[in-house]
Amino acid sequence: MSANRPAAVVVLAAGEGTRMKSATPKVLHDICGRSLVGHVVAASRTLDPEHLVVVVGHARERVTAHLAECDAQVRTAVQHEQRGTGHAVRTALEELAGSGAALDGTVIVTCGDTPLLRGETLRALAETHVQDKNAVTVLTAEVPDATGYGRIVRDPDSGVVTAIVEHKDASDAQRALREINSGVFAFDGRLLAEALGKVRTDNSQGEEYLTDVLGILRGAGHRVGASVAGDHREIAGINNRVQLSAARRMLNERLVEDAMLAGVTVVDPASTWLDVSVTYEPDAVVEPGSQVLGASHLGADSVVGPHSRVEDTVVGAGAKVRNSVTEGARIGAGTSVGPFAYLRPGTVLGESAKAGSFVEIKNAEIGDGTKVPHLSYVGDASIGEHSNIGAASVFVNYDGVDKHRTTIGSHCRTGADNMFVAPVTVGDGAYTAAGSVITKDVPAGSLAVARGQQRNIAGWVARKRPGSAAAQAAQGAGEQRPEGSDEGPGRAG
Ligand code: UD1
Ligand code: CA
Repeated sequence: MSANRPAAVVVLAAGEGTRMKSATPKVLHDICGRSLVGHVVAASRTLDPEHLVVVVGHARERVTAHLAECDAQVRTAVQHEQRGTGHAVRTALEELAGSGAALDGTVIVTCGDTPLLRGETLRALAETHVQDKNAVTVLTAEVPDATGYGRIVRDPDSGVVTAIVEHKDASDAQRALREINSGVFAFDGRLLAEALGKVRTDNSQGEEYLTDVLGILRGAGHRVGASVAGDHREIAGINNRVQLSAARRMLNERLVEDAMLAGVTVVDPASTWLDVSVTYEPDAVVEPGSQVLGASHLGADSVVGPHSRVEDTVVGAGAKVRNSVTEGARIGAGTSVGPFAYLRPGTVLGESAKAGSFVEIKNAEIGDGTKVPHLSYVGDASIGEHSNIGAASVFVNYDGVDKHRTTIGSHCRTGADNMFVAPVTVGDGAYTAAGSVITKDVPAGSLAVARGQQRNIAGWVARKRPGSAAAQAAQGAGEQRPEGSDEGPGRAG
């Protein structure tokens, strides 16, 4: 066990976040594929604490259910009334003590609405705290606009932190201070528990302020330290949707930068959006205006974009996804998607295959070298290798009650404008005629023709549209009008 391993991390997330003006609790809002509290829990996890406790209150059923999905080991402490940050931490410590957890060692406190805080910053705070043998170490930052934050008050001679004064309780001179409390602390667990018992509520909000613990510990002769964050943007708390979007952009910048440093070409970082869970290989390329989301993976030399939205999709080496939307798809190496394709969940494209323009595919496996080039819907199907599906084909999978599958073999050539009325099977090497409605199985190697025969009614224009431009054009072309016969031969294929 590392000497710096904290006994516990406490994440405060009981507040409502009224300024979000949302039916969704603030800490459940998403940036870059993870909730705000999910980011804080993930950063906290990198400290490998013995206990990770989130204080929940407002909408606690939703928050608790969400936390269980993010991190199965996370514990929750319920703060029924939001009586201040000090009260929230007290609630967490009581929950831990009630389960017999010993709080000898470091307890880190952080907030559920600071998603940009890095694990390495938390680790540096924990390290400073232990090395300096402090009773409490507060993470601070110099910010351009300190409005609303608690101010760090230091002794003018020694520079030692003497107190944190909330904005609402601060004098004009204190309000001029630019060093603020990030809301993140490292405490000696036992001293914290003791001091919390002494926190009073005689302040402008009538709350138990966690920040008062500093003065209490200092008054009792303990060491109080501060660690100044290198980048003040990292400790930005989210209170409204303007701050939410700013945080999303900052986190995205980091993720795009990580991708570039790992060998991904990002043509336009400003219009590229990546989720935290995306993985990639060197020499993948992301063209402008693209979002790569969820559990997506970009293979070497793959190209996504311009203007593509790729979600939970594996893009194989050298594959291209241009101006397209994909969800829950696997795209084989060297395969081309788009422009303007829509791949829905369960789409599996083999290698060197193609899903071309205005093609929608759902729950279908398409073999190596098989092409669906134009204007088609392929739903609930299996297509073998090296087959070609004619333009404007529809896999008619739904009878209004149930979905059915279509199976097409390898080396097939299906005609343009076919309907495959499922369930139906087309054997290996079979052909189908253009304009066919395929309702019966087609044996291997056969040609299926399923459409009305063509009739040519000779002289119809001259009789029915006399004097029209069409009639004149036909006459100019030396139109033949055989007496008594008005039908030409049909032609299949
Ligand atoms: C708090 C700090 C302030 C600091 C700022 C940093 C105190 C008294 N003030 O102010 O010094 O500069 O954070 O962002 O600590 N919460 C609970 N239960 C409660 C009250 C709050 O769980 O009873 C949670 C909130 O959900 C939130 C966090 O604690 O995640 C901070 O609470 P908030 O009301 O946002 O504190 P600030 O006024 O921003
Ligand atoms: Ca407050």
